[in-house]
Amino acid sequence: MVDSLPERLTEAVSAVSFDRLFCLTDTTTLQLCWPLISYVPVMQDAVMITIGATDNNKTIESLIHVWDSLQKGGATRHSLLINLGGGMVTDLGGFAASTFKRGIKYINIPTTLLSQVDASVGGKTGINFGGLKNEIGVFNLSESVLLAPDFLRTLDDGNLLSGYAEMLKHGLLDRKDHLYGLLSFNPTVACGGDVTLERQLVQMVARSVAVKERIVGQDPTEQGIRKALNLGHTAGHAIESMSIEDNHTVLHGYAVAWGLVMELYLSVVKCGFPSQVFHQIEAYVREYYGKFHYECKHYDRLIQFIRHDKKNMGESINFTLLGGIGDIRINQVCNIAEIEQMLDYYREC
Ligand code: GLY
Repeated sequence: MVDSLPERLTEAVSAVSFDRLFCLTDTTTLQLCWPLISYVPVMQDAVMITIGATDNNKTIESLIHVWDSLQKGGATRHSLLINLGGGMVTDLGGFAASTFKRGIKYINIPTTLLSQVDASVGGKTGINFGGLKNEIGVFNLSESVLLAPDFLRTLDDGNLLSGYAEMLKHGLLDRKDHLYGLLSFNPTVACGGDVTLERQLVQMVARSVAVKERIVGQDPTEQGIRKALNLGHTAGHAIESMSIEDNHTVLHGYAVAWGLVMELYLSVVKCGFPSQVFHQIEAYVREYYGKFHYECKHYDRLIQFIRHDKKNMGESINFTLLGGIGDIRINQVCNIAEIEQMLDYYREC
């Protein structure tokens, strides 16, 4: 029997020795998620710090607000910060904790599916700066990550699907049975009160996190195999950046899902990824995420964004591709003609 959220929170907090406890939320998680833990005895003396919600607030100003609140609240080097929120809060809170008095301990309680399976795991912390995402930051692992389905019940379908795209990626990086389990599941019905479906989602989340932890464990600072986690993200970030520029922002996971289809197409062409599996992914993404629409006149902009992806070095354009499920090929150099072929395929499919 899995312990309840209050029991697991008590266990996680009690495992750390600290003098003062701080809890960081954004305005949304203060309203929707804090009430789910505020009554737990270990949280009674927590000093609350709140920043604005959404990625627009992942800024140096919000970071200063957190440092200032820690200082005014009497934080010492032995204080503990709990980050209660999505990736914006866990990234920014992790960075605030990593830098305050040269580093205090922190625990992540991710409240979105995206942050449960990706952002809160693996020690990447940081803020946006100078118009660039995650430009300033450090690698620093949290004391623990508390995963609870209770918070997923606060999410709409779009946010569930957004996180699920990262889970599809982890399935592709792992094994056939993992991927096919994901492809036969609809995450949007999992948190509507059906205990069996919710339990299934919880198990899939745990498996997804295990894949990420295994990869991060081999390469914590992304010198090599951690680049596997960029699958779908080179094209996905280009879609995201162009959408932001055109003022119709898309959820990160949707861009990743469309990016996965594009990069699996390249994987079929360049690395022999099985086309039957590719078409299954393509059909799933089309059914749940719809399609990202663009025209030939957008190619130059998309290619510029791909070229300037911060994971690329110098002139060559690198992708993480797959030779099959779990057959990871990092640093695959693609030329412009191949990228245009990928964009043609997706546009016409
Ligand atoms: N989100 C990819 C990574 O943590 O490396």
